[in-house]
Amino acid sequence: MSALCPVRFSSFDPKALADVNGHLAILVTPEGTMDQAARSANRLTKGAVARLIASDDFAKAKTGQVITLAWPAGLAAEALHVLVMPRRVSAIEARKAGAKLAEARGSAPLTVKAGNMSRAADLALGLALRDYRFDAHKSQDSEAPAEVVICHNKPEELAEAYAPLQAVAEGVHMTRDLVNEPANVLTTTEFADRLAEMRALGLEVEVLEEDALAELGMRTLLAVGQGSASPSKVVVMKWNGGAAEAAPLALVGKGVVFDSGGISIKPAAGMEDMTMDMGGAGTVAGTMRALALRKAKANVVGLVGLVENMPSGTAIRPGDVVKSMKGDTVEIINTDAEGRLVLCDVLWYAQERFKPAGVIDLATLTGAIIIGLGHENAGVFSNDDNLCGAFLKAAEAEDEGAWRMPLGAAYDEQLKSNVADMKNVGGRPAGSVTAAQFLQRFIQEGTPWIHLDIAGVASVKSNTAYAPKGATGWGVMALNRLVQDMFEAE
Ligand code: BES
Ligand code: MN
Ligand code: ZN
Repeated sequence: MSALCPVRFSSFDPKALADVNGHLAILVTPEGTMDQAARSANRLTKGAVARLIASDDFAKAKTGQVITLAWPAGLAAEALHVLVMPRRVSAIEARKAGAKLAEARGSAPLTVKAGNMSRAADLALGLALRDYRFDAHKSQDSEAPAEVVICHNKPEELAEAYAPLQAVAEGVHMTRDLVNEPANVLTTTEFADRLAEMRALGLEVEVLEEDALAELGMRTLLAVGQGSASPSKVVVMKWNGGAAEAAPLALVGKGVVFDSGGISIKPAAGMEDMTMDMGGAGTVAGTMRALALRKAKANVVGLVGLVENMPSGTAIRPGDVVKSMKGDTVEIINTDAEGRLVLCDVLWYAQERFKPAGVIDLATLTGAIIIGLGHENAGVFSNDDNLCGAFLKAAEAEDEGAWRMPLGAAYDEQLKSNVADMKNVGGRPAGSVTAAQFLQRFIQEGTPWIHLDIAGVASVKSNTAYAPKGATGWGVMALNRLVQDMFEAE
């Protein structure tokens, strides 16, 4: 797994400012006020910082921006980063600034003179989130991330505040690693093995194999995987940090390790992107990791359906009729609408077995959600205003885009089948809504439920504020906060 950059907090200067190696960062307010470290850097560089503050570049600079002086005369450091930062900032501003510093330092060791900056733990989080490389398959350039030292007036307080944030960053990195991994490496078996390794963190992990799934009647899930050489699996991860009798929150993830479309095969162009079709399962895994690492005082169960959607002589065909675990029958019109077939069985199983207080599923479910919301917001569908409101609030606080979409019985018309209880596609209009509507048929009366369509946000083609291009880890932070807000409150 790609390691998080080590972050150390210190009160005094381990070295005099002049002798700091690697990259050095100092803080200057947007008004141009220097703190003690900035003044000292200014003195050593014979006024270079003051000249920068007087420049047009600085006048145009916004909060959180980094201006770099390369090879500053008078300092041993290779680069001096001037971070434009008011004395008081929001958590998100601090994270964004940390992310900018991560970009600016590249792979060099970094010392940040943060003085008495508020939200410095969030600065560290932003650094750790943005400091991510997926270089597992590069024969060169695979180095452990360089250290970050944050010098602050209250290092112990800061270290304490950072510990749970570091747990979340670990979870985000795990999700990204899983989502970025190619499908020949991250087979269903490899995925399950990586989840089983989380037993070391105190999670209970069960791997259900095909015979057990058949026994349970999960035939729609098995139907999706029946054309693949990789066996289908369901993995259950339990974190019991709450009261013994408290009903858990269930997180359910779509884990299609590769989505070729099956017999309804996808076009060649861009098909390689379908290695990320396990993004929902990846997010569930990363969230469970974060909860375990920070020893969350809540009961949460994560369930992922791991399958590969391939065309072959044994694959499901358009026109096949399959019976779900719930008992409802589905006419498969398009084998590329496979995610809902996986989820419906895992959703049903989660409710039957755990009687959860709430269910949240995550899935790279539809291309239509990308048409609707692009890469800025995940689609949020819910039958419960309370749970949904809490989730939207958590997502906003974590700066993870989420936008509520409608559900409604009128859309059910589009799912009517002549031969079975429903078809697996509802046609082009409202493609994301009919997919959600399909899932809702497998939600039991009275169970609060959210479906998150993350097809647009799980993996992106350009850098974001917190991640280099590729997997983002979207949702780990919002779900972690939701658990904290709603399930840990005493
Ligand atoms: N995995 C795809 C959805 C997807 C598309 C994820 C683009 C990420 C990026 C899903 O299984 C799929 O193929 N959906 C079809 C549904 C259609 C056949 C009703 C789609 O969106 O085209
Ligand atoms: Mn598909
Ligand atoms: Zn898919």
